[in-house]
Amino acid sequence: MKQDTNIAIIGGGYVGLSTAAAFSNAGYTVYLIEPNKERLNTVKAGKCFFYEEGIEPLIEKAVKEKTLIPTDKYSEAIDKCSIIFSCVGTPDNPDGSSNLSFIFAAANEAAEYLQPGAIYIQKSTVPVGTGKKIESIFTEKKIDVAYVSNPEFLREGTAVEDTLFFDRIVVGGKDSSVLDRVIAIHKVIQEHHKTLLDISGITIPKKNYAGKYIKANLSSAELIKVTANAFLAVKISFANSIAKIADQTDASVIEVMDAVGADPRIGRAFFNAGRGFGGGCFPKDVSGIIFSADEHGVDFGIMKATEAINDSMANYIVEKAQKTIGGYKNKKVAVLGLAFKAGTSDARRSPGAKIANLLSSAGAQVSAYDPKAAEEAKEELNNKVEIVTSAEEAIKNSDAIFVTTEWPEFLELDLNENAKNMSGDTLVDCLNLFDISAVQKAGLQYIGVGRNGV
Ligand code: UDX
Repeated sequence: MKQDTNIAIIGGGYVGLSTAAAFSNAGYTVYLIEPNKERLNTVKAGKCFFYEEGIEPLIEKAVKEKTLIPTDKYSEAIDKCSIIFSCVGTPDNPDGSSNLSFIFAAANEAAEYLQPGAIYIQKSTVPVGTGKKIESIFTEKKIDVAYVSNPEFLREGTAVEDTLFFDRIVVGGKDSSVLDRVIAIHKVIQEHHKTLLDISGITIPKKNYAGKYIKANLSSAELIKVTANAFLAVKISFANSIAKIADQTDASVIEVMDAVGADPRIGRAFFNAGRGFGGGCFPKDVSGIIFSADEHGVDFGIMKATEAINDSMANYIVEKAQKTIGGYKNKKVAVLGLAFKAGTSDARRSPGAKIANLLSSAGAQVSAYDPKAAEEAKEELNNKVEIVTSAEEAIKNSDAIFVTTEWPEFLELDLNENAKNMSGDTLVDCLNLFDISAVQKAGLQYIGVGRNGV
């Protein structure tokens, strides 16, 4: 077997498919192992099961040219590859700990076929200490493979961009020459920048990116990933707490965070107050690190507070708006945005869905709309929430509009025209996106989160 020309990727979720899309268009032959039949058939048809700008053309081309080979069998992939990426899901258990059953199942099954000299690379987010347990599985089975932690930092909605223009790629493990091999394959992706951009069809303005490669020990690499997400979550909950103070005064959380974030030691990013964070990563990473800290005898109070503040935000906004709307019973309310953020069809732990459910439980008749996430949101919504096919339809005859995802089309809505079709006159800006005076000029009452007490 020629070294490092064939790559196996276990798990065709967000991380696995994004990784597969990049490597399979950068000169590698990629075997994608996906046990879910429906997802597998979607990839085989050259398609992607979630919405992510630019990813489908990459998958389509690679499947057509057979540089991306989808399969549900480890036996058809692992023994042909010297590089194996584990990108399986790590959902959270009901107690908040990370469910690692897929991680260990994948390692055990791959172990049956791993070839001597191969590198088994963990991209999934795992609690610190997991890698050592997997290393001992390989040692017990007397398999000569190296284990590397290579946590993934890409964001949904900008997966292709994040893969090409990364701040850092972290590789953690025992053997420096093995880490160099993992870095080398990532450098090949960088060399294929232009090709990947051309195929994906996305245009990204020329930008500066750090592009650092960072070597670390195995446990550090595991901890780097969860620490990064935990810290960003702290920033968001911190901003939301400041917003609550601003609401009690005539301060604006946006003015405050613009000035505070201008200090480079602090930074402006992830300092936006609103309905809190959702998605497949932050909520589970926060509960995961709390649990993992507890296991190591550390009381991670700051993360517990972060989680509690985040959990409070949807209700805080619904209650705050209630005063202006005058109760929710028999009111019609539009909820615009079910994706956990713009640019994705992902509605896992969606704050928009949570707000829709709260409004519905409070007696409102809720019409929800999202340009991409309506289907995936069904699982998150209670069955009284009606999903409609346009923002205008949701708004028609409504007493209030809640904007819960920052889709550009919501900001481009003609407020004057839409206001005329409403029964009431309230716009609840759950992400502080709108210009307050433009909303008021359209005859609507504006409610934000920490903006001048309105
Ligand atoms: C996150 C990390 O950013 C990424 O590095 C990691 O690999 C996976 O987890 P993602 O879940 O795709 O990425 O979304 P992100 O853009 O980080 O947003 C997470 C949530 O925080 C969203 O619900 C977003 O609306 C919310 N958010 C973000 C805020 O409420 N305020 C902010 O200032 C920023």
